[in-house]
Amino acid sequence: MKKLAIILGAVLINIFTSNAISVEHITRQRLLIDLNWKFIQSDVKGAEEPKFNDSDWRTLNLPHDWSIEGEFREDAITKGPGGYLPTGIGWYRKHLNLSSTGKDLQYWIEFDGVYMNSDIWINGQHLGKHPYGYTSFYYDLTPYIKKGENIIAVRVDNSIQPNSRWYSGSGIYRHVWLNISGPVHVTEWGTYITTPEINSTSAKVSVRTSIENHIKTIKNIILKSVVVNESGKEIATLETPVSLASSGKTDVDQNIIIPSPSLWSVDTPVLYTLRSSVLDGTKVNDDFTSTFGIRKIEFDKDKGFLLNGKHIKMNGVCLHHDAGCLGSAVPEQAWARRLQLLKEMGCNAIRTSHNPPAPEFLDLCDRMGFLVMDEIFDEWIEKKGQVGFSYHIYFEEWWKTDLLSMIYRDRNHPSVVIWSAGNEVPDQVAEKGSDAIRKLAETFHKEDPTRPVTQANDRIAAGDGPAKIPFLELQDIVGYNYVDRWNERRELYYSVDRHDHPDWKMIGTENVSVGGLRGQYSIVTDLSDKRPGRSRDYRLAMIEAEQLWKFTSVHDYVIGDFMWTGIDYLGEAGWPSKSSSSGVIDLCGFPKDGYYFYQSQWTQRPMVHLFPHWNWTGHEGQVISVIAYTNCDTAELFLNGKSFGSKSYVFPQQGHSKSWNGYVRPYIAPTTSDLHLSWDVPYEPGVLKVVGKKDGKTISEEVRTTSKPSTIRLSMDRTEINADGRDIANIKAEIVDENGLIVPDANNLIEFKVEGEGVLIGTDNGNPLDKTNMKSKQRNAYNGLALAVIQSTGKAGNIRITAASSGLKETDLHVVSKNMVISK
Ligand code: GAL
Repeated sequence: MKKLAIILGAVLINIFTSNAISVEHITRQRLLIDLNWKFIQSDVKGAEEPKFNDSDWRTLNLPHDWSIEGEFREDAITKGPGGYLPTGIGWYRKHLNLSSTGKDLQYWIEFDGVYMNSDIWINGQHLGKHPYGYTSFYYDLTPYIKKGENIIAVRVDNSIQPNSRWYSGSGIYRHVWLNISGPVHVTEWGTYITTPEINSTSAKVSVRTSIENHIKTIKNIILKSVVVNESGKEIATLETPVSLASSGKTDVDQNIIIPSPSLWSVDTPVLYTLRSSVLDGTKVNDDFTSTFGIRKIEFDKDKGFLLNGKHIKMNGVCLHHDAGCLGSAVPEQAWARRLQLLKEMGCNAIRTSHNPPAPEFLDLCDRMGFLVMDEIFDEWIEKKGQVGFSYHIYFEEWWKTDLLSMIYRDRNHPSVVIWSAGNEVPDQVAEKGSDAIRKLAETFHKEDPTRPVTQANDRIAAGDGPAKIPFLELQDIVGYNYVDRWNERRELYYSVDRHDHPDWKMIGTENVSVGGLRGQYSIVTDLSDKRPGRSRDYRLAMIEAEQLWKFTSVHDYVIGDFMWTGIDYLGEAGWPSKSSSSGVIDLCGFPKDGYYFYQSQWTQRPMVHLFPHWNWTGHEGQVISVIAYTNCDTAELFLNGKSFGSKSYVFPQQGHSKSWNGYVRPYIAPTTSDLHLSWDVPYEPGVLKVVGKKDGKTISEEVRTTSKPSTIRLSMDRTEINADGRDIANIKAEIVDENGLIVPDANNLIEFKVEGEGVLIGTDNGNPLDKTNMKSKQRNAYNGLALAVIQSTGKAGNIRITAASSGLKETDLHVVSKNMVISK
């Protein structure tokens, strides 16, 4: 993980406007041009003109999301779906200085994501419009770029609202790149790498490289492809002479044999690099690198998913693209931390609901070993209804451009194992729905025959109009959203369709929607929330998730399940809430109890988790349900040293081996068929302790009655960050009593101060009702915790973070910002 943290902000070069870009002797450069953009949050006439005076606009660095800087207001036009934050129109301008333009060089600008409806100009020349906010796109700058100052102007129009069912953010919220190459070069996203044959001694790596010739004559070149392993060693090379048509594109196919390959898997995510050089005689015309993994994926109607021949259940979560107080402008490190938490939960699969993620998100999944379902749309032709202006407006004109953008950009990622064409599209019940899915699936298959296509269907067997069978049968894998939604499927789940359609491959694209607020407990059973699967009562919250998991885990034909959601997200809320709390991790990245339920089912290392808290003054003698999630064989509960008994699950139990009543491991009498253990305990203050036993090992967790808040305790996820103006550290503030115990209901107002080479870029506490501005330096704790996110300024030095609160002891913490040498 340490290695990963360092890799993160890595390999990206920033350009300051003051420093001109030198383009002498270039083969290829990929320059991150995130720094020093001018911005105004309004529509301005003539801002695309080079001579326009932007000196009074704000200067900022990308990625940037202006919605998250705004106030939460009940009358915001984004309403609940957009999290009650402002949107509107904004302009960005970048002054780009080039010391020269070089001879015959090619330039193109690449946007990883702009939400939404962007129009882009260079030096007053309109380059194009891109409506969809989640796909990457690029424009050729070559005819317009010049020596000296160039002005890139970007108009972003997110004013037509509502256009999203969840928080989208507004602006250039992902990276922007300037690419420069010679006149003969590999196309952007121009390699397609697959690994069709793998055996114990070698792997065949097939590479299709698309090469552009911008010279008006036929050009004879050599395509040199070199595979480099993780230690930087060149392990295979292939040179292919190619005659390139004049002013055109040529695809070159190569097969490279790799001896003794190390396979990519979720536990050993080994990556290789392909270096593609375009050689003109001895001159290197272009040098392009792609990352890939060697792995074999199989989807079987009976066995489910096999990775390198081995069955793996997809223990998945759905994720939206925002990161709480950072909105949609998410530094890589924020995702690294969140993904690490999910990894520790035992999660091995992610569905990027309901749009393609940032490229670096997939890079992280490659490096950390996640399986990804990469999803393109939430709407096709038919409108969903909740939001009037979402993708159905653009589908007919733009679906192919957007789909190809995702496929070309993402198809080398070993982590991506399934494509999803859509989420709950109403087209599933429409007459012409089959035509729509046919053309989407055909495009996927043509451009990438190696991965199956699914759609997240929510109307299979709906009483009031089910998904059409031909529509489902055009999917390589039938995706089930809320498989238990209709009729007897609450108990029988996939088995009904398994009986009727034994050839279908099946996956739980989205299920359970757990919900709940971190650390929020009531000892009165709350039956008021009648939405199935969504009880907020801590005793009931996971029951349906437990029941479904029992089914999914023992039926191999169910490829896996993506629960809704791994992490809370902004929007899709109803006032007074600003965010959805269906995650098992809150908006700050603090786990809720449900997190430990999945950990108990998805991991092997002994763990036990105990809840609720034990501060129930005034309820002495009253019986309180105490719950534990554990993967231990047994767990015993003690209150102030007195045992309340040892308990164990009936599921999963080992079957008889060899003979009746003969087991491989000692038989353990079960006490429940649930997937949680519970005890009824009359309250008395003190120490609640659970002791789990597994394979002779003992593990325990305690919950103690606390006294009142005394101090703020600060901790950080990283002691050193990169002084690159992008890297971040997460600072956790805990309100503790005089014994250092977190006070579970503390909500003290904390004021954060950041000094030195860091800036505060967001604070939060995970409470959906807290509508304090996300950039505020003041934040109440919520159930004992709060989060502050700091970012390096771009200069090396120390950063001091102070947290103060009236009546509590002030605390500080130091983070070092330094120039890191990044290596893999
Ligand atoms: C699903 C939908 C998700 C989200 C969820 C809320 O039906 O696919 O995007 O809206 O419901 O529970």
